[in-house]
Amino acid sequence: MNKRFARPAYLTIALMLAACLLLTGCGSSSPTTTTAADVPQVYKSNCISCHGSELQGRMGPSTNLQQVGKRMSKEQIATQIKKGGGGMPAFSGKLSADEVDELANWLSSKK
Ligand code: HEC
Repeated sequence: MNKRFARPAYLTIALMLAACLLLTGCGSSSPTTTTAADVPQVYKSNCISCHGSELQGRMGPSTNLQQVGKRMSKEQIATQIKKGGGGMPAFSGKLSADEVDELANWLSSKK
């Protein structure tokens, strides 16, 4: 009933939905072959801001992880996560060994 309030709220929601669909393809009905659906939660909460929802990288080519398994071993990836470097923060204090392991495993399969 309160139109003055309702209009911006609808706009905001519409914009958020649009952005969400564009960025993450979170409309689960879309039959795209993106990796977004099986991205681990740890990645979503820690890495997505720089590496993107599709691993496409948001800070230039060096942050594209779509084929990181081709150029880095699981151990190298784990080291990068733990120690950071080249503009990436270290996560050894933030993530458990299991979480680092899970991420390294998953990323090393991206070839
Ligand atoms: C603040 C931004 C930022 C965050 C957050 C971040 N990274 Fe990075 N990451 C980078 C940058 C920048 C590079 C490129 C480093 C370089 O060029 O040496 C990179 C490089 C990497 C690489 C090596 C890629 C390559 O080909 O050399 C891996 C693997 C990686 N990140 C994984 C992760 C994971 C997993 C997370 C979450 C736990 C994460 N990153 C979080 C910025 C970030």
